[in-house]
This record gives sequence, structure tokens and C-alpha cells, in this order.
Amino acid sequence: MWEPLLAFPLWAERRGCDAASGPFVPLSIPRRCMYPCNPEGQQRSRWFLQLVLAKALPDIGLDIASQVRHNNPFTFQSEKRVSQPVPAITRVKISALGTYVPPRLLTNADLEKMVETSNDWIIERTGIRQRHIVDPGTATSDLAAEAAKRALAERGLSASDMEAILVATVTPDMFFPSTACLVQDKLGARGVWGFDLSAACSAFLYAVQTGAQFVATGTHKRVMVIGADVMSSIIDYTDRATCVIFGDGAGAVILEEAEDDSVGLIDFIHEVDGSGGCSLYMPGGGSLHPSSHETVDKKMHFVHQDGQAVFKFAVRKQAEVCEKLLTRNGLKGSDIDAFIPHQANKRIITATADRLGLRPESRIINIDCYGNTTAGTIPLAMQTAREQGKLKKGSLVLLASVGAGFTVGASLLRWAY
Ligand code: UT7
Repeated sequence: MWEPLLAFPLWAERRGCDAASGPFVPLSIPRRCMYPCNPEGQQRSRWFLQLVLAKALPDIGLDIASQVRHNNPFTFQSEKRVSQPVPAITRVKISALGTYVPPRLLTNADLEKMVETSNDWIIERTGIRQRHIVDPGTATSDLAAEAAKRALAERGLSASDMEAILVATVTPDMFFPSTACLVQDKLGARGVWGFDLSAACSAFLYAVQTGAQFVATGTHKRVMVIGADVMSSIIDYTDRATCVIFGDGAGAVILEEAEDDSVGLIDFIHEVDGSGGCSLYMPGGGSLHPSSHETVDKKMHFVHQDGQAVFKFAVRKQAEVCEKLLTRNGLKGSDIDAFIPHQANKRIITATADRLGLRPESRIINIDCYGNTTAGTIPLAMQTAREQGKLKKGSLVLLASVGAGFTVGASLLRWAY
């Protein structure tokens, strides 16, 4: 029996292979191949990959027989480096979305009373009008669990139907246990594993692609991915350069196998550039500067940002990865139905959208309502897109982010329901 295989965009660059065998390149698979269905489960096997690769490798000029290495079907020897998607057994879709923001509002008028700023400056330079802020005692796991419950309710599933919970955050309740463990407990999800993922504003995209690998390879049926941050816990409300920007919020999605390849995740590009680490960071409290009276006195437990450096990088890089992603999938900006970017600054979103030639109606902007909720922005913006009727089954969606690290991400998908 034969079934269609849709190549899933995993990047399998194998670096640092032994010198004797030379440089390796990730394998390349055409977007659609056929593979024999294994009745005992969808397992990658060497013979199956060879079969698929026999169709794929000639496309990139590689000779299959001489390239397949005995013990590792994922590495291939070649003179040239080729970065291409590798196959997945299953196409993955987002099957549910839930979001949560705390009810308390912090408006620009409130901030005018706290620091030397103005409603006009904040709106003109950032696009933000208000943010939601937790009450003392409410933590990231609380927002995350609430968003997760809403996603579960939408899908009609119980928490124990999940097999893994991934929490994207830079504001975990504490260093350990992980927020994923706390969320698991709050949800009463039995038999589930999970972990936190730290990639700042790109963390939700990274967590979605990480969770998708478990579903794609057939090891997990359902994965819960949550982006949640209580940024107000690490903001200095006497620093006007940062306190006007951030808010608190969370969003959760459920990842599952797509019933057919007309919907689901299509492709992604991720990139980090650690040389930008000093432009946006929280210096205190880690192993480099453990918490002390001195770190607190120096306000090292707060967010520090060189706004202009981040802004310039974000404007350049976000458009660059999106363009690359569109081009390699044979798409134009005008093909996108919903552009759902990280909400850091309205000017960054508009600059990216203009450069990509996105239709005005496809641009999802809700920074005015929520500010920058770090890992929460993209699922919150998905919710806004849905409320605006811009996410329908089959809608072509482009997600994009740039954040502390620097971390960069772009994902392409077709909305599944
Ligand atoms: O999600 C994580 C990634 N983060 C980002 O993407 C943030 C990227 N950066 C930005 O969004 C912008 O750089 C900011 C919104 C942070 C700042 O906007 P800007 O247009 O780059 O302002 P600036 O830092 O160049 O400052 C311009 C002026 C300065 O005054 P002087 O030196 O010209 O007199 C600042 O002191 O604006 C002043 N300023 C403010 N004035 C009123 C800075 N913050 C404020 C404020 N209210 N809140």
C-alpha cells in the first residue's frame, strides 16, 4: 500500500562529522513523494528512505548508491552543502487555539503618571495603547494553564489526551521546576511529559516546530504548545524605555496529525545570532550574576534593551527570513492570507509587511491592545486574526518573529479548521 508523503521542513544539518568522511549535507526530499505504508506504525527505515531518496537525490545532483551511509540514513556525503527539508511521516496541523490575558489594564494614561512619557509618544513610536498586567501572585503558569484549558475546550479534549506540553517563556514561575511541570499539574494532565523552551519573542515559533517534530515522526499523537510570559515581573516601571512596551499574556495551540496535506505546517526558517545578546537581556539572577543585594541594587533583574539596535535588526532580519521562506515555496507576499508577526512594534510589522508586498487586509496587528507579551504575541495575534475572520480552513498563514538572542523565526502553514 502506498501513501503520499509530504516533506516536512525539518533541518537536519549534521555538523562536525568525522574528518575522514568529509563534509556532510542534509538530505533533500521533494515536497511530495510516495512511501510504502508500514502497517505496524509509521517508522523510518533505511530501505524506505533509500526508496524515497532514489527519487529525490537526482534533483540535487547526488548519487544515492554512493551517498547513503550504512548506519545513518540522514547524512550524505557531498562536495556541496545543500539545505533542504527532510521528510516527515506525518503532516502536522494546529487543531485548536486558546488564549488568555489577565483582566487588569495598564493604559498609556496610567504610564503617564508613572514615568515621563506621553500617550502620543507611545502610540507614534510603538502603536501601543494598553497592556494587560497580572495582579501580584499570578504567575506565568497560571496564564499558560488558562490558555491551555481554552484550547482543550475548543477541541473537546482533556489534558490527559496530550502527550507532551511545551511552554515557551522567558518568565518561568521559577528557574525550576519548569513551568511545563507546573502547567501539567494545574491541568491535571496524567502521563504527559514536557519542558520549557527559552527563545524570547521567537520561543512560540520554536516550540511549535519542536512539538511538530514529535507528531511528524509519529512518536506523539498530540502536543500542547504554549507561549506565555508575565513580562511585568521583569520590567522596571521607572524605566520609560522599556516599561511602555511590555505586557502579560498567553496562548496555546494543540498540534496533531493533519488528515490530509491540504492543511498544516508547511515550512520554516529559524536562525539565531548570539552577537546581539547584549542588545536585549536580563543580566542578573543567572549563573553569571547570581542574585545578590548588589544585582538588585543595580537593577540587573530587569529587562535591559538597546531599543534602536533591536529595532534595526528586527526590521532587516524579519523581512529577510520571510522573503526567503516565501521564495523557496514559490510564493509571493500577496499570496498570504494572514501575516501574523510577533508584536514588538507596529513600525517593525509595517516595515516587514511593506517589503514583502503583503495585502493590507492580511496584516494582523493587535499590539495596540496587548503590547509586547513576548512568547504570547503570536498566539494572541492568531486569535485576533480569527476574530477578524482571516483564519479559515486553508488560509495561507505566515508567522514571523525576531527577539532577544537574537532569535529569528518564520513559519508557513495552512490553517486547518
Ligand atoms: O520583542 C523584543 C524585541 N524588541 C523590539 O523589537 C523593540 C525594538 N525597538 C523599538 O521598538 C524602539 O526602539 C523603542 C520603542 C524601544 C524606542 O523607540 P525609538 O523610536 O527607537 O526611540 P529611541 O530609543 O531612539 O529614543 C528617542 C527619544 C529619546 O530621547 P532623546 O534622546 O531623543 O531626547 C528617548 O529618551 O525618545 C525618548 N524616549 C521616550 N520618550 C517618551 C524613549 N522612551 C520614551 C518614552 N516616552 N517611553
